[in-house]
Amino acid sequence: MGSERSKVEVKGFEAKYYDLLMGVLTFGQYSRWIRKSARETGVKPGWKVAELGSGTGIAACEFSKLIGPSWKYIGLDIGKEMMEKARKKCRGRENVDFLFQRIEEPFTLPFKADLFFVSFVIHGLEDEDKEKVLENVRANLKEGGIFAVFDYSQMEMEKTWFLPRIIMKKLECPLAREFAEMDFPSFVERRGFSLLEIKKKFLGIFSLYLFTKK
Ligand SMILES: C[S@@+](CC[C@H](N)C(=O)[O-])C[C@H]1O[C@@H](n2cnc3c(N)ncnc32)[C@H](O)[C@@H]1O
Repeated sequence: MGSERSKVEVKGFEAKYYDLLMGVLTFGQYSRWIRKSARETGVKPGWKVAELGSGTGIAACEFSKLIGPSWKYIGLDIGKEMMEKARKKCRGRENVDFLFQRIEEPFTLPFKADLFFVSFVIHGLEDEDKEKVLENVRANLKEGGIFAVFDYSQMEMEKTWFLPRIIMKKLECPLAREFAEMDFPSFVERRGFSLLEIKKKFLGIFSLYLFTKK
């Protein structure tokens, strides 16, 4: 079961209209940001890619193009409606698969991935679940593979400007604020990864964190 302090388990109305709602909230930019972040992971043709919380499949379709037809992308998610949308969006793409799988529960992929990607999921996990997710990523990622996290930037809420404060107060769950205020890169580095780069996005509110497996 997910935490009651989280909003990342998307169901019902929100799942049905997820792409539309996110599009409205971001002035039409949401899927462009996700696709751009997917490209900025440095993914190359021939890579095997896994995504945690693959949602409606925005990144899946982008990765499918970037890795080439005979390689593999697997998206893990627990949202029935979200996965239906993803399967529809990626219909006909033979290098794409989706699995119903809780990302904090142990799993073994049919391959060691060159890249794990996760966008707007990690901020909604309790720290103990973040740890379990990192263990799963380490177990299924190649040595030197990339772990890419697209999520909120690190911010001190009392000191930051009004837009992120409004997002956290009116739209987000308590865990998202905790995520923004924690030292996420160090949390990940203490669990067997090295930080490569942080790319700031959209007025500094979001970041693409790139790690490699030590
Ligand atoms: C906020 S949405 C983000 C979807 C997508 N990554 C994106 O950026 O558009 C969170 C997604 O993570 C999935 N999710 C949340 N908690 C999960 C968990 N513990 N295991 C697997 N999937 C999870 C939800 O079903 C949902 O599809």
